[in-house]
This record gives sequence, structure tokens and C-alpha cells, in this order.
Amino acid sequence: MCGIVAYLGEQEACPIVLKGLKRLEYRGYDSAGVALIHQNNLSVFKKKGKVTDLEKHLADKAITGSIGMGHTRWATHGEPNDINAHPHFSSDSRLALIHNGIIENYATIRQELMHKGHQFLGQTDSEVLVHFIEQIQKENQCSLFEAVRIALNEVVGAYAIVVMSADDPNQLLAARKSSPLVIGIGKDQKEFWLASDATPIIEYTNEVVYLDDHQIAILQKGSMEIKDISNVPTTPYIQYLDLTLDAIEKGGFDSFMLKEIFEQPESVHNCLRGRLIAEKGHLQLGGINKYIDRLLYAKRIIILGCGTSWHAGLVAEYIFEELARIPVEVEYASEFRYRNPIIYPDDAVIAISQSGETADTLAAIELAKSKGATIFGVCNVVGSSIARATHEGAYTHAGPEIGVASTKAFTAQVTVLLMMALMIAKKRQNVAEAQFSELLYELESIPEKIAKTLKINEEIEKIAHIYQHSSNMIYLGRGYNFPVALEGALKLKEISYIHAEGYPAAEMKHGPIALIDEEMPVVFIAIKDNSYEKVVSNIQEVKARKGRVIAIVNEGDNLISSMADHVIEIPATYDVLTPLLTVIPLQLLAYHIAVLRGCNVDQPRNLAKSVTVE
Ligand code: G6P
Repeated sequence: MCGIVAYLGEQEACPIVLKGLKRLEYRGYDSAGVALIHQNNLSVFKKKGKVTDLEKHLADKAITGSIGMGHTRWATHGEPNDINAHPHFSSDSRLALIHNGIIENYATIRQELMHKGHQFLGQTDSEVLVHFIEQIQKENQCSLFEAVRIALNEVVGAYAIVVMSADDPNQLLAARKSSPLVIGIGKDQKEFWLASDATPIIEYTNEVVYLDDHQIAILQKGSMEIKDISNVPTTPYIQYLDLTLDAIEKGGFDSFMLKEIFEQPESVHNCLRGRLIAEKGHLQLGGINKYIDRLLYAKRIIILGCGTSWHAGLVAEYIFEELARIPVEVEYASEFRYRNPIIYPDDAVIAISQSGETADTLAAIELAKSKGATIFGVCNVVGSSIARATHEGAYTHAGPEIGVASTKAFTAQVTVLLMMALMIAKKRQNVAEAQFSELLYELESIPEKIAKTLKINEEIEKIAHIYQHSSNMIYLGRGYNFPVALEGALKLKEISYIHAEGYPAAEMKHGPIALIDEEMPVVFIAIKDNSYEKVVSNIQEVKARKGRVIAIVNEGDNLISSMADHVIEIPATYDVLTPLLTVIPLQLLAYHIAVLRGCNVDQPRNLAKSVTVE
């Protein structure tokens, strides 16, 4: 989704803003722009395409100024082109605005403004907002802050905005509702950075303020004021960010995605650290404490998420029902919120989100909360909107995930959900002491097994060479690994643009089998769990129809080796933990196929890392 960066201080703003925009490229975008103030002159430069296209456009321009802002746009209203790119000017070009989100009532406001003589260059809702602020300031002869405040009281929708004015050349105004915005604070408040997430900020400062909904920040050299849109001042809560620059750089890998796949032994380890000590039989999620009884005695658990997080939720359904013996429903947040769901006050809701900013998940949480349910979050981004909207939660501690296709977030989410389920199972006495202890030991050793699984990388690359030109692929798995089949198919389509379908292996007979011929690669998750024999039969059914089988098997599986075209061997583990290993080869397969097809794996077309609009 769109990215916002802004700077106010002593240094040249443009290089800081451009570097920040590059750090936000991972979010997905189609055009970029900057605005700068120099000696009371406000200039805007914008271009369709990448930040490097914008840089080329700026190369021969004399740009200077110690206050500036930049934007990467992911088109919602109006096609991606130079005009619709942000920043947008007011009619008199004295005001400029950047915006993330959607102003839902923009058409009505646009109409009214046109009656008052405003002309619009593009089709965006954001351009309407800056004209609206201009009009309010003119009509009320008020300060820019007041005009922004009045405008935000009128608009319906979601926004994170930054506004600059040639008439207030030492000031940045920023506001948010349902779209994230972080303020980085320099020494003695002499400098400020603003961004959609902390990645453009952490190389300068670790002190940040996450703006809350309906808040407006007024930043000037030496001062930061935050008021809400009713004009009530609030005391900013300054947090210390525990992030390093290494965490958001590629560290020698060709792409963030590959780095993140290979980080999984460490990210899962970090997720377990301090929470699970098998030797002492210790398992504790510090963030789930006050409301634990609501989870323990819940009649039903509803799991909400989108994309990969929804897949982690599906895995959790199997895990919770098996270990905790509580009925679970897994819902796409976007469907749940629009279908008048039945929610009881004794329901526990688990909301899963890597970014903690997905608009649909956030809205679904608010809906469940309004019906009295208790909400637990499983988020990766500390301080994110979802983390703050839930009653309690456990962070995944996977570190920043920059590649658009989610990898290490998935394994960390499953790890947290496993710990939650085991905690409940133990407290509800659904699991025997010995089994509980064995599972703790095995979960503790999973990072090592992930590291071992990653050794198959080169073999997978060879398989990818064979199937790189496929136009379709099917992924099949059962039980805990049915959601992993969905996740494998999602990874492939996201980054290689090959059409792929995930199915429960037994369902193949009810449809997908019609697709199978000698051209169709079928990826089976065929490990030795309780459905092994059934999956072996499914493999035979595919081979009988001349399909090409790539099977993920346990080490030393001679039976499947004799049937499949290719086998990928992974270590054995308990059934309930298998998704943490089986997903790894599927991530690598998608990665290598996409690279061989010349695709940009970190920034796949049309996708956004965090979808902050409906
Ligand atoms: C987008 C991303 C996916 C992600 C989904 C949910 O579609 O491209 O990778 O799984 O959003 O995001 P969340 O941050 O809520 O986990």
C-alpha cells in the first residue's frame, strides 16, 4: 500500500525522503513523488513508476530545503500516472498533501468544491482533500491546523496524511485514522521524521511516537504538539524501538524474500525464546495473562485473518481442536465483517496479522469487540493498530518482514498459535504430562530442523528449472498440511504469476483430477502422518493420469520415491508440528521458479505488503 515519508530538521530533506521511500518500496506501489519547501517556495515533483524513475526526474533539478515529504502511491482512485501521483497541490499551489487510505465521501466534497470554482487535475480522492483544506482555510481565515482539523471532522474513510504549506514553511502537519503513521524524534526535537512504518526512521532514531486514530501532530523545529480532532491536546507516548538497520537490509542475499526464508531457524527461535523452556516444563506467553480465562473457558474460538495469516489460522484450527479441544472457526476477516456474524460474549477471537494494519482484520476485530467477545492478537509489528486494538496478544517476534510474499511471518504465527494451544491444553488438562513435555522438547528443536530442511535449497532450484514454464500447478495436502498446500499455491501465484490451486488431497477426486495430464505438475505434501497411506493412493491416482508429481516426504521414504517424479526430503517431527517444516520447500520452490521467470520476488506486481484499504 501507499507509503509516506517526511522530514523536518537541519539536513537536506530530499535525500532523506528518497531513501525513506526506497525503504518503503516493499509495501507495493506504482508511482512516487516528493514535495519540498525552500525559501517559502513549495515545489512538487512526481512520476509514475519506481522511486529510481523519480530520482532520474529530479537529477537535473535544483532541489534543496530542510523540510520535505514523499509518497509512494498504490492506485485506488484513478489510474497510476504522473498526475494522480502524490503530493497533490491546492488550487493556489501553496499547500501540498500526501495521503494513504480512502476518503469515501470524496465525490460529494469534490462536487461542492467544483461549484465553488475548484478545478481538479486528476481523479484521486486525495487531491479533493487538499482542495477541501484550502477552501476551509479561505472561508474561515483560520490556521492550517484548524483547517485540517475541520476537514478531518467532515471526511469519512481512512487516512494518514501529511500537509505542508508555503505559508508555514517550518511546519509539518500529520494526522491519521485507520492508516498507520509513525513519528521519529531527533535529539532535542530539532529533527522529525514521519513514515508509514518505522523502516525509514530507524537509521536516524529509535525514539518514536505511533500516532493514534483521530490525532493530528504539529511538528516544528524544537516542538511536537499532538491534539485530537476535537482540538484536545494529548501527551504523546514516546516508545523506544528495538530495531536495528541490519534487520531491514538484505544482508548479502539477492532478495529480502530469500533472506527471510533463510532467517526462519532464527525467527522461530526468537519467537520461542523466553517463552518455552522444555527442560523446566515452562511455557508462558507473557502477553496473554489477564484474559487467559476467557480463552481457557471459551465456548468457541473464532480466528480472523487475511492471506497468509488466514492460512496460519487454518493450521491453528487443526491444532486447537486437537490439543485444546475447543471448537474453532476460521474466517476471512473481509467476509466475517460483512455478513452479520453471530458472536457471543463468551467467544474468544484470535486475530492474526503480520503487519497489524490490515484494514479488514482491524474492522472485523472492532465488530467482534462491539459484541463483547475477547480479542487476542497475533501480530508481528510491535505497536501496530491491530496489536493496540486487541485486549491482549502475543507478538511473533519474527523481525521486519520486507518481502511482499509472507514467509517467516507464517512460521512464527504457527509457532505462537502452537504455544497458545499447548498452554490451554495443559491448563484444561487435555494433554498428558508426558505428551506435553515431549511436544515442548520437539518444538524447542524445530529451529534446528528448519535449518536442516533449508539444506534442500539447491535440489529445489533444480526442480524449479524443470517446471519454470508451467502455466498451472496443483498443491495437495491433508490435515495440518492442507492449509500448507494453500499457502504453497499462494506463494507460487503471488511471485511467479503461475496459476496454482491448493486443495485437500482427498478432494482432488471431486474436481481438480479433471485437470491432470502430462503437463500438470502436482505438489504433494506426503509426510508420514496419520493420512500417509491415503496420500500415497492420491499420488497413484495422479500418476495413473500421467501427472508430474513433486512430493515432500520424510527422509528415507522409499515408497514415494519409487512413484514420484521428484522427492524433497525433510526431517520427521510430530504431526502437529509438521507445517513448520513442510512449508519451507514450498516457499523455496515458489522463490526459485519466480526468479527463473525473471519476476521481482520482493515486489510482485499489483500486490501490497499491507492492505490498509478495504
Ligand atoms: C497482503 C499481503 C499478504 C498478507 C496479507 C495479510 O495481502 O500481500 O502477504 O498475508 O496481506 O496481511 P497481514 O499483515 O494482516 O498478515
